Amino acid sequence: MAILKILQYPDERLHTVAKPVSTVTAATRKLINDMAETMYAAPGIGLAATQVDVHEEIIVMDISETHDQLQIFINPKILERNGETECEEGCLSVPGVYEKVRRAEHIIVQALNERGEPFTLEAGGLLAVCIQHEMDHLKGKVFVEYLSLLKQSRLKSKIKKRQRETM
Ligand code: NI
Repeated sequence: MAILKILQYPDERLHTVAKPVSTVTAATRKLINDMAETMYAAPGIGLAATQVDVHEEIIVMDISETHDQLQIFINPKILERNGETECEEGCLSVPGVYEKVRRAEHIIVQALNERGEPFTLEAGGLLAVCIQHEMDHLKGKVFVEYLSLLKQSRLKSKIKKRQRETM
């Protein structure tokens, strides 16, 4: 296993739209293991392949407190969304930034697991928010892009300043 480099906002590569995985292979599973290790090491509760500069529809997630409930979503699709919720979100690609985002409260998602088998999951609460956040990454969208343009430009200059200081 290996720890992968996580792209940092506003890296343009975070805006790449991921392609569906055509066949789940040993290489896909190796990538999933590396993504999981990277997520746990960060530490984070979700990671999309986009964030490690692989533009395939793969998400790893673990919202458990025990960090032993890894969930994998390959080619995820939302079949149904209900209700509305607003949660403060963070992202491994935007460290130190937490902002409220409005999302569906309940979703039904369909995806493939690491063996390439389809499954359907009903999700609510943090899990639903996290799935929607990670699926946005696959579409090339970072959560801060829900903020007003003014807030986004302030955030960009703040982050660029911080990146210059730590270089
Ligand atoms: Ni994120």
